[in-house]
Amino acid sequence: MIKHKRIAISTGGGDCQGLNAVIRAVVKTARYRYNWDVVGSLDGLAGLIDTTKMRKLNVSDVRGLLPKGGTILGTTNKGNPLHFPVEVNGKTEFVDLSDKIIKNFKELLLDVLIMVGGDGTQAIAYELYKKGIPVIGIAKTIDNDLMDTDMTFGFSTAVQVAVDAIDRLHTTAESHHRVMIVEVMGRYAGWIALHAGLGGGADIILVPEIPFDMDIIIEKILQRRNLGGRFSIIVVAEGAYPKGGERIVQKKANSEYDHELLGGVGHWLSREIEKRIDVETRVTVLGYVQRGGTPVAFDRILATRFGTYACELIEREAYGRLVVLRGEEIKSVELEKTMGKLKMVNPKGQFVRTCESINICLGRENKLLY
Ligand code: F6P
Repeated sequence: MIKHKRIAISTGGGDCQGLNAVIRAVVKTARYRYNWDVVGSLDGLAGLIDTTKMRKLNVSDVRGLLPKGGTILGTTNKGNPLHFPVEVNGKTEFVDLSDKIIKNFKELLLDVLIMVGGDGTQAIAYELYKKGIPVIGIAKTIDNDLMDTDMTFGFSTAVQVAVDAIDRLHTTAESHHRVMIVEVMGRYAGWIALHAGLGGGADIILVPEIPFDMDIIIEKILQRRNLGGRFSIIVVAEGAYPKGGERIVQKKANSEYDHELLGGVGHWLSREIEKRIDVETRVTVLGYVQRGGTPVAFDRILATRFGTYACELIEREAYGRLVVLRGEEIKSVELEKTMGKLKMVNPKGQFVRTCESINICLGRENKLLY
């Protein structure tokens, strides 16, 4: 006999494609397979801080959600409830709202909280778990930088958006004989740049894990020109930076609970190239279009599998765990073990080797070339 459960679900951190698909999967599995109830917390954990921001979720509420981007619950990557900003006499002070969350969790007669999010959200999930809330985390982020999962949902769509953009930029690059620079997101990891660059046929891919050498980039552009290639496509990750230089930050983090906003390396690169050689460069910063719109099939399917698996963990009362993809299988890992670890591109790894084997320049000397 399966025990009845009341599940709360929240989405936290930056939005990405597949969040609505995961909400839909949880609601449908809870209702059809287990006959459980689901409530949604609006804007991250705001519903557990102020219970008027809690919504019952029925199957009818999730109808038609599969192809929709964003999250019907809303999200936030500000206002960590363990370090929540409040105005006191015109000044911002930070308070820990976990007691309030625990009290509301009990008053709402909830059994489990599913927190869908990236590394920041999972760090909060682990804190709440340690304080006694049965929590299950679900891994999402376009950056694909969570350690224990082969893939997060959101990533494939972000890569597809970038590849589509690179395909389109190729035509202007070719017609005008320009160097086209595409700056993509990804924070401190180069996964989006690497996949998009490989899928879009970039000539140069720059990732944070391999600080780049300007001389080598220039050499590559000139080499292409000498061989008749009158244009070049550069995909640069927002977190990439030159050897011996610094990462370009748009906005610094205000506290350890905030995050810095990256961006600007594309324009920096463009100026550097034009200073050094006579070539016209143009920059496209893809920005938030990578996070928006319809999820590709892979992200819809992964999100749905994650949502259903989270319910199976609830049935087993296996809490304090993060739902992940390992090979073909959906599995889970202890939040404690995965917390705070980021998955970075291995500069000596197979993916990088693939790029260098086909003569894509990664901003460093390519030792694989014949
Ligand atoms: O983590 C997802 C992401 O889109 C990163 O790629 C990017 O650096 C960051 O979020 C932007 O954050 P915000 O939504 O706060 O502008």
